[in-house]
Order: sequence, then structure tokens, then C-alpha cells
Amino acid sequence: MSVSRRQFLKTSAVAATAGPLSLGAGIDYCAAAEGSPVDLSMGFPPGAVRLNFNENTLGPSPKAIDGAIAGVRESYRYALSGLLPPHIGSYHDVDPDWVLMGTGSSEILRLTPVAFGRNGGNVVTGLQTWGGMLAVAANLGMDVRRIELRKDKGYVFDVERMLDAVDSETRIFMVVSPNNPTGATLSYADLRHIADSLPNDVLLVLDQAYIDYYDGGGSGLDLVKEGYRNVLVTQTFSKAFALAGLRCGYGLAHPDVLNEIKKFGTGPASINIAGYGAVLGSLDDPEHAIRSRTYVRKTRKFYQQQFAELGVNEVSGPSPFMLFETGNRSQEIYDELLARKVFITHGRSWNMPDYLRVSYGRESENEVFFSTLKSIL
Ligand SMILES: Cc1ncc(COP(=O)(O)O)c(C=O)c1O
Repeated sequence: MSVSRRQFLKTSAVAATAGPLSLGAGIDYCAAAEGSPVDLSMGFPPGAVRLNFNENTLGPSPKAIDGAIAGVRESYRYALSGLLPPHIGSYHDVDPDWVLMGTGSSEILRLTPVAFGRNGGNVVTGLQTWGGMLAVAANLGMDVRRIELRKDKGYVFDVERMLDAVDSETRIFMVVSPNNPTGATLSYADLRHIADSLPNDVLLVLDQAYIDYYDGGGSGLDLVKEGYRNVLVTQTFSKAFALAGLRCGYGLAHPDVLNEIKKFGTGPASINIAGYGAVLGSLDDPEHAIRSRTYVRKTRKFYQQQFAELGVNEVSGPSPFMLFETGNRSQEIYDELLARKVFITHGRSWNMPDYLRVSYGRESENEVFFSTLKSIL
């Protein structure tokens, strides 16, 4: 289906102002991409149901789209990403020098072991978690200590066992909250307990890519604001603001921590000008994150209900995806879904081979996912 930009913006604007209850009511928010004059399929076959990358199919805020388009028109110019921290700073109520922009939060995460672990030592983290920085840490020769999450509590980080693994060689203690793929969250009390328990020379890294989906507290930024100097929080516009393809993320920490990271990367060219415009547009429409959260909450209920009807166990949290238990049929079910062009992720990626992870999609995609799954089970 081909949809003009004007039609798309109109549709998005309706979606954006229609109020939470009507969100996702059969509106194809991302239909505009299908009318593209260039091939943006990224190699996926026509009709693919792409539920494998935790993308936000609500799409960006109309203001972010306008900002990105304005940026593209200026794309003969370099963007100066150093001009964004004042905007992010006022959004989060921190000084600009406590904000560092990255090409996605991944850039900040990957630079962190270079900055803090290049002379060796170990990283303590969880086993069933997203390891964006861990490969870099291992390649630097760091000892990556991955502690099993607590299955009995719905796969939450086993904070005490993780703290027990810290020793004089520990350089980084890393948690993801809400966690990918289990959705587990750490409370503010948990975060504070970790920060208080760690020696001063250990950097606590809190990957909070999905924090905008969670309104239950547990913001690492509050820890930073409270004066903890060895805490780095990473956040992103990829998820609740739906700018994954524009690669805009950031770190929040004491300037001493950020200056250390800056020695090894980031800089004016970390953000492209379309992303720059989209970030400004997103910050002008912060309610978009709330719309995303509302959609995810509603979709999670739908998924829980569907899995309950199928008698399949699920593991999830406020984040936009769900694990479902497939036991020794994981590979077979994964392959069958793939053969029907339904793309999800094997739990093997996070040492959970008995599970598959599905990212929430558009309503129509979620329905296709369940009807396909039902035909396989
Ligand atoms: C937990 C987690 N952190 C970070 C990222 C990377 O996000 P970004 O797009 O900001 O690089 C992802 C991507 O899926 C993620 O799941």
C-alpha cells in the first residue's frame, strides 16, 4: 500500500491525539514505509512479520518525523551533536555536561569497557541479559562474570550473588532494567543497594533502554542525581520514541565518567542530522513515550491472555516483548514460524534455549503471530 507523507502524518497525528484507548485500533502507523521509492525491506521477504528486534511499530511522533525530514533537507551539513545535551539536560533536569550523546546507546555501552576496563579486570553482570558491551569487554581480555538470574522470581537479577562475585579486580558492574529479554525490573531500593555495596572504583552501568515503558520507579538517573559518582545510565530514543533507525542514544553520569568515555569515541559526528532533528521533535512531544507505554501495556495483556489460552508460560515485564516457554520444541517452533515469514528471536541468544522471544508488533501482526503459532503448536 502506498501512502503519501501527508496522509501518513495525518494518520499519525490522529493516532497521536486520539487518546490512549484508541491506540493501535487497526491503524497501520508504519504504512508510510511501504510506499518508499527505495528498498527498505532490509532483506526481509514481502509480507514478513518482523517481531524480532524490539522495534516500536507505533512509529515516531509526527513532530519527530517532521524534525527528521527537516534534518534530511540540511544533510549536506554536519550535525553538531554537542548541541543536544542542553536539550536532553533540560528534559531530564540535569546539567548538559552530565549528558553524552552516542550513535544509539550502544555506542556509549561499547566504549565503556574500553574506557574503564582496557587494562584488564572483570565485569560482573547477569547471564540472561542483553550483552551489548560484553563482547567488547571480552575482546579486551576482561573476565566477564555472568551470574544466573533467579528463575524462581521470574528471571530477576540475583543482586546478592552478583555482589558476591565482585572482587578487587572488578571494574564494571552491569545491569539492564527493565531487562532484555526477561522484562525484570530493579527497584530504586535495589539500585541504591547495589551502588552502596560497590567499591568506589567500580563503575555501575545501568542500561535503561526500556525505562520509558516503566512508571514504577527504579530510574538510574535518580541515583546519578542523588550524587553517586560511579554510576553510568544509558538511555535511548530507539525504543519508546521509536527512532531505532536514526541511532540516537545517550549516557547520563557525572562529567568525570563521561569525559573518560569521550577519550575513546563519541563526538560531533555521533549523531546524524536527521537524528538531530528527530530528537528535537521528540523532545517537543514527550507524550509520545507515554503513548508507547500505553500501547505496550495493552498489548502485553493481549499476549498474556493468548498465551494463557494456549497453556504456554510467559515471562515479561513492562518492556515491549515477551518470552514464551517452548522447552525442547524451541528450534522446531522457531523454524516453523520462520518458514511462515514470522520472525522472532531464539532464547539461545540470552542463554535461554527453552524460550523464544517475541517483540510486540502492530495489532495485525500480533494476530498473525498467534494464528500462526496456534497452527504450529
Ligand atoms: C537492553 C538494550 N540496551 C541497548 C540496546 C541498544 O539500543 P540503541 O538502539 O540505543 O543502541 C538494546 C537494543 O535492542 C537493548 O535491548
